[in-house]
Amino acid sequence: MQTAVYPGSFDPCTNGHLDIIRRASKLFDKVVVAVLINEKKNPLFTLEERVAMLKEATKALPNVEVCSFSGLLAAFMRDNGYKVIVKGLRAVSDYEYEFQMALTNNALFDEIETVFMPCSAEFMFLSSSIVKEVAKYNGELHGLVPPEIEPIIKRRFGY
Ligand code: COA
Repeated sequence: MQTAVYPGSFDPCTNGHLDIIRRASKLFDKVVVAVLINEKKNPLFTLEERVAMLKEATKALPNVEVCSFSGLLAAFMRDNGYKVIVKGLRAVSDYEYEFQMALTNNALFDEIETVFMPCSAEFMFLSSSIVKEVAKYNGELHGLVPPEIEPIIKRRFGY
C-alpha cells in the first residue's frame, strides 16, 4: 500500500490545496494531509481549526486522512513509516525552495522521495495569504476556498 504525505500550514486550506489532494488521492492508496504546528508562522487559525477545515473539505475522499505534526517533516515520516511526500508547484519560482526542501528531507531520511505535482492552471495565483487578504476586506471567496469552509472564514473576518 503506497501512502503519500501532503504537508503544509493550511492557514487556511484553499482550492489549490484541495486540487492537489484530490489528484494525489487518485494516484496513491492513501493520502495523509499533515498540518504543521508551526510557531514561526503565527497562524491565524488554530491547529484544531485548520485540521477541522481540512477534514470538512476532504470528507468526500475516503482515502484521505488529516493529522498534525510538529518538528521535522522527515522525523514525522520516519516515525510513521511514510516514504512519499507530495508537493504542489504553482510556478517556477516555487521550484528552488521546494527542491531545497526535497533534498534536505532526503538527506535527513534517505528513504523519502518527494513527488511534485503541477497545480492546475486555474489555481496558479492562489495562496493562503491571498485568501486572508481578500477576506480581510470581506471580498468574494467563492472559487478560492472549498465551499464547506467559506462560512468558517467569513465568521472569522466578520462578513
Ligand atoms: N495551492 C495553493 N496554495 C499553495 C499550494 C497550492 N497547491 N501549495 C502551496 N501553497 C501556498 C501555501 O498556502 C502557502 O501560502 P502562505 O505562504 O500564504 O501561507 C505557501 O504556498 C507556501 O506553501 P508551502 O511551501 O507548502 O509552505 P507551508 O508553510 O504551507 O508548509 C512545510 C511548509 C510544512 C511543508 C515545511 O515548512 C515543513 O516541512 N516544515 C517542517 C520542518 C522541516 O522539516 N523543515 C525542513 C527541513 S529544515
